[in-house]
Amino acid sequence: MMTRRALVVANWKMNGSTAACEAWAGAFKALPAPEAETALCAPAVLLGCLAQHLSQSCVALGAQDVSEYASGAYTGETSASMLRDIGARWVIIGHSERRTLFGDTDARVAAKVRAALACGLKPIVCVGETLAERESSQTLRIVEKQLTAVIDAVGAQALASGAVAYEPVWAIGTGKTATPDEAQHVHCNLRELIARFDPKAADAVRILYGGSVKPSNAAELFSQPDIDGGLIGGASLSAQDFYAICQAA
Ligand code: PGA
Repeated sequence: MMTRRALVVANWKMNGSTAACEAWAGAFKALPAPEAETALCAPAVLLGCLAQHLSQSCVALGAQDVSEYASGAYTGETSASMLRDIGARWVIIGHSERRTLFGDTDARVAAKVRAALACGLKPIVCVGETLAERESSQTLRIVEKQLTAVIDAVGAQALASGAVAYEPVWAIGTGKTATPDEAQHVHCNLRELIARFDPKAADAVRILYGGSVKPSNAAELFSQPDIDGGLIGGASLSAQDFYAICQAA
């Protein structure tokens, strides 16, 4: 088995400002570079500002969504090539907030992953079950359906060029986290699913956990064999807290 370098990704969601970019970048760059690979997925409108402030830092830039279309008459959309142009390397796709609030279906998520890959953006494909789905023992069925839609569209090898994030919907922004055992169980099943298509890709792909990860619970989650890092929402708004989570990975 290969060793996978930990990856810790900040997801600012719809938070931040040009002043916050400068302050966060200044605080993060003042600390020694963490061993984990790091990325910051910010609102698209702040990426240009962050590209300036985070130049010569170990933090790669990412977006939180991407259009499934390449260019043209799609008012309000941001294309993968535009995100590349402004300096993004990563993009979160299929976050549960996009799925539940903005109608991103499995098919649209797959189309967005395809669009990202076509421009060399690395997708972070999010999957996760709701509380009702967990309570009715459907967790594995749901996350496997979500991930299979993407693998069917782009293949397991392409998926592995990015990352997968398991984020139980009931753990996002709620202060509740899956226990390390619960999360490991899902991560292990996701890796086995990918292995059925491509064992090498399954071994290489980073599977991140997300949902109320904090400096105080990160180390225990990241110590699980199939948890290769995290997707961090609320706690990533503080450069110090995000750094502490990176150090735990
Ligand atoms: P949270 O969000 O860390 O605030 O729970 C995680 C996410 O939604 O990516």
